[in-house]
Amino acid sequence: MTESSADRSVMATSLRTDACGQLGRADVGRTVHLGGWVHRSRDLGGLVFIDLRDRTGLLQLAFGPAWSSAEASATAAAVGVESVILCEGEVVAREAERINPDMATGDIEIRVTSIQVVGPAVTPALPVARGRGEKMAAEELRLRHRYLDLRRPELQNNLVLRHRLLQVSRRFLSDRGYLELETPILTKPTPEGARDYLVPSRVHPGEFYALPQSPQIYKQLFMCSGFDRYFQIARCFRDEDLRADRQPEFTQIDIEASFIQREDIFTLAEGLIGALWREAGHEIPAQFERMSYADAMETYGCDRPDLRYDLRLRDYSATFAKLDFVVTKTALAAGARVRGLVVPGGAAWSRKQVDELEALAKSAGAGGLLRLRRADGAYDGPLAKFLTDETGAEFALQDGDLALFVAAADRIASPALDRVRQECAKRLDLIDDEAARFLWVLDFPMFEEDPETGALAAVHHPFTASHPDDMQAHPDHPARWRALAYDVVLNGTELGGGSIRTSDPAVQSRMFTLLGIGDTAEQERRFGFLLEGLRAGAPPHGGIAFGFDRIAMLLSRAPSLRDVIAFPKTTAARSLFEGAPVAVSMHDLDELGIQVKRSGDSA
Ligand code: AMO
Repeated sequence: MTESSADRSVMATSLRTDACGQLGRADVGRTVHLGGWVHRSRDLGGLVFIDLRDRTGLLQLAFGPAWSSAEASATAAAVGVESVILCEGEVVAREAERINPDMATGDIEIRVTSIQVVGPAVTPALPVARGRGEKMAAEELRLRHRYLDLRRPELQNNLVLRHRLLQVSRRFLSDRGYLELETPILTKPTPEGARDYLVPSRVHPGEFYALPQSPQIYKQLFMCSGFDRYFQIARCFRDEDLRADRQPEFTQIDIEASFIQREDIFTLAEGLIGALWREAGHEIPAQFERMSYADAMETYGCDRPDLRYDLRLRDYSATFAKLDFVVTKTALAAGARVRGLVVPGGAAWSRKQVDELEALAKSAGAGGLLRLRRADGAYDGPLAKFLTDETGAEFALQDGDLALFVAAADRIASPALDRVRQECAKRLDLIDDEAARFLWVLDFPMFEEDPETGALAAVHHPFTASHPDDMQAHPDHPARWRALAYDVVLNGTELGGGSIRTSDPAVQSRMFTLLGIGDTAEQERRFGFLLEGLRAGAPPHGGIAFGFDRIAMLLSRAPSLRDVIAFPKTTAARSLFEGAPVAVSMHDLDELGIQVKRSGDSA
C-alpha cells in the first residue's frame, strides 16, 4: 500500500513540485523539481541512473551528456546512497524495451538538468535497498539504527496504513457521536493484571504516579460526568513479560458508552472492525461468530481459539474409565478428566515427531501426552493392548489417525492440548492464511480462584459487572459467577476486550471485598475517586478496548508488533535506538528521594 493515490497537490512545496511516486505518463513533458533519497545508482560510463526515493515511491533519474551538464553528471556519479538530493529535470516516457514493470513509475524517467546534494550520507550502517534474495540485516541492528530501518518501503507502508487506520477509527466513532477525550498519563495505579510503570514525584518525595495500564477508571468517570460516548486513541503502559504480540507501551482504541447493553457494543465494534478491514481492502462478515468461554475452553482448550482449522478436543473420560490402564485410572479416580484430539494423518509421524509434541505439552504443564495410533487396521501405542472391540470403536479412529490425550485437571490439560492442537495444525498445513474468522468469546468467569489459597482474582478487571442470574443463583459462590465480559478474537489473536461495568457503588465495593480489599478505608484510599463518581449518579455503562497495534500488525501482515510501531522496544523491554532505560545520576535520584539497591544488596 503506497500513497501514490493521495492528493498530489498537497505534496508540492517551495522546494519541490511533485513527490516521486506520484508522477506518471500524464506528466511527460513537464519540468519538475524533486527531492528525495538516493536509493541506488548505476554509472554506465556516459550515462548515470539514480533511483530516487521518498515515502510515495521510487522514480528513475537519468543523467546524460545530451541534457545534463558535465558537473551534474559528475555529482550524480559521486553521490553516496542514502544521501538527500534536490534536482530539476524533464519527465520523459521510456522506450518500450526500457519500461520497468516492477516499478510503479517504471514507464517514465526524469532527464535531470541540475542536481544538488543537500544531505550527504555517511555509509549506512545497514542497507535500505536490498537486492533480490538479499537477506535483511539482523533485527537488533535494525532496531539500533531505526532511522535507517524506517526508510525501508515495507515499514513506511506499514506506518502509512497505521495512519489511515487511525483516521478511519476517528471518523467512524466521531460520526456516531463519540467524543475524543484525553485522560492523564501521570495517574494512580489501575489494576489490569500487569505491573505498573511508576514515576517518582520530585515535589512529593517517596510518592509515585503510575503510567496508565489503560484509561479504564477515567473513562467510567466520563460516563458519570454525562459525556455519554467516549473514545480515545490511548497509549497504555504495562510492565509484563513480552512476546511478539505484546509491547510494554502500546496503543488502544478505547471506547465507553452509557445507556447501553452488550449488544450495542457488539454492533459498534463489528462496524468499526469492518471499516478498518475495508480500509485495508478486505470485506468481512457484518456479524461475528459467538462462543461462550466454557465452550471455547472445552472444545479448543483456550479462550481465543483459532477457528481456521477444526481439530477439536473431546472428553474421552468415559472410554478411559473402561480401560485397565493405570495412568488414566489413577487420574480419573483423583477427579481429573482424559481429554484429547484426533489428528488425521498423524499416524505417519515418527516417534521423535510425537515426542516433540509431548515436550510441548509438558512445557505447558502436563505430565505427559498419551498416544494411540491406528495404521493398517491395527492400534499401536501404550494403550493398544488394553483396548477391546467396543472401547477401540469409541475412539472412532480411521486408518492413519493419531489420537493424543492428556489426563489431568482442566487447568493443566487445556493449555497443554491447546499448544498441541496449534502445532498439529501447523505441521499438517491446515491453516488458511486468507481466512479471517472473527469470534466473540462471551461469558468469561468473573473470578479466577488460586488453586492453593482459594484467593479470587478478577479475570477481566474488578469493574466488570457479574451476570445477575449467577449472583442470584449462587450468592455465596462468586467463583461460579460469569462476568458480562467479552473478547473479540481473530484467528487466535485477541483483538480487544471489554465489559458492562458495575454501576452500583455498593456492588463495586463488594467486588473489592471479594478481591481481598475488604477494608473500607483501603477501598476509599485506592478507588475512592471511582466509588465517589458512582455514588454521584452513574448511568448503566460499558465499553471495549481494541489493541490497535495488533490490528495494524494483522492488516499489514507483519510478523511482529515491532513492524508497525515506529520506535518499539525489544523483548527485553529495551529501546535500542535511543538506549532506554538508563541509569540516572545520584544527584537526580537524591532530588527524587530515591536510593537504588545494587544487585547483591540484601533485601
Ligand atoms: P485489555 O487488558 O483486555 O482490556 O486490553 C485490551 C486490548 O489491548 C491489547 N493489549 C496489548 N497490545 C499490545 N501489547 C500489550 N502489552 C497489550 N496488552 C493488551 C489486546 C487487548 O485485547 N480497560 C480494558 C478494556 C475495557 O474493559 O474496556 C482493557 O484494557 O488486544
